[in-house]
Amino acid sequence: MNALRTQFFRHLAPTSQQPLLLDITSAQGIYLYDTSGTAYIDLISGISVSHVGHGNKAVVQAIEAQLSRHLHVMVYGEYIQWPQVAYAARLAALLPPNLQTVYFTNSGSEATEGAMKLAKRLTGRFEIVSFRHCYHGSTQGALSIIGDESLRNAFRPLIPGHRLLPYNDVQALQFITQQTAAVFVEPVQAEAGVVRASPEFLKALRQRCSEMGALLVFDECQTGFGRTGRLFCFQQYDVIPDILILAKALGGGLPLGAFISSYERMQALSTEPALGHITTFGGHPLSCAAGLAALNFLLESHLIEQVAEKQNAFVAKLQHPMVRELRSAGLLMALDVGDDQRCRQLVAACREQQLATDCFLFAPHCLRLAPPLTITKDEVDEVCRRLWKAMDVVYYA
Ligand SMILES: Cc1ncc(COP(=O)(O)O)c(C=O)c1O
Repeated sequence: MNALRTQFFRHLAPTSQQPLLLDITSAQGIYLYDTSGTAYIDLISGISVSHVGHGNKAVVQAIEAQLSRHLHVMVYGEYIQWPQVAYAARLAALLPPNLQTVYFTNSGSEATEGAMKLAKRLTGRFEIVSFRHCYHGSTQGALSIIGDESLRNAFRPLIPGHRLLPYNDVQALQFITQQTAAVFVEPVQAEAGVVRASPEFLKALRQRCSEMGALLVFDECQTGFGRTGRLFCFQQYDVIPDILILAKALGGGLPLGAFISSYERMQALSTEPALGHITTFGGHPLSCAAGLAALNFLLESHLIEQVAEKQNAFVAKLQHPMVRELRSAGLLMALDVGDDQRCRQLVAACREQQLATDCFLFAPHCLRLAPPLTITKDEVDEVCRRLWKAMDVVYYA
């Protein structure tokens, strides 16, 4: 084992017994380079983060420019910092009138926490509803509402008043009541293996929440920023949430999360008590500068308009006998091979083909295909050729 790898195991706390262990030296475009100089095509994008490609020039320039102005100067919400204000205003211009005020956080989990607190503060209720196989983060509050028992059980007691409902089940929405503070939902459940909400379900959910006075929270940490073919996935459904959670691609490769709601609602965290949510580094100026540049690049390069065509190319070219189903929401795709062990073998075979990918958190039988949106059509063809070879290796072994 080389020295770096030994130190990795000795000094970095592990999250699993089988980390992917690519030893990265640099990354550019859709490629990750390891210490031996091998180039891997990135089909993970750091879990839906690197949508405008690694080392994107516009993003790097924006970071460098901000670097020379200032880094951290004060906790969130006190000083007027141009990158935060400019990014919040840019997002607001792209969002509906009830989503105009942004609270920047460090991560998706912290944004979930903030949204939970805002909902409790606004409604005076504490019940949170979410859906089976959902993922909203790993901090205590977020963990309390995720839809998988195995991840939560060891950390009980969790926060009280959580109710888990089946996804895409309109009947079950009757369990949202006047006790419910908020309903958290992903319009596409990424970690469940790319499961889309049906339009009827989201419409019925919107209606039920409005009737019961519960706040509807969309978690678009993975589906935001063009990943599913629109800037935000909720735009495909014509259903507008009361609170929107963003993270991952929001920071253009730097850590950043946000929960966004109306101007009026957001005032609640500044009174009774003031400082209803506090974060030192949330909305870090470097992250906001990077995120703003990434968003501008995304819109100016018309990448979102090309998502459907690239998605269709993947779907058409991956009809291998090993594939049970290929579920896709734009360039968020799950290649369902129906078996956990086979999927692990496929991840290893992909590695041999210099494709970096993994399985989903709650769908270990599904291979993740979520390349940077900058992938070209020729590169899509190349990925499919290599994937086909990898599938041959596992299927005919
Ligand atoms: C849908 C969704 N929400 C929230 C989170 C939590 O984000 P973070 O890891 O930045 O805390 C994730 C992370 O994977 C996610 O996929």
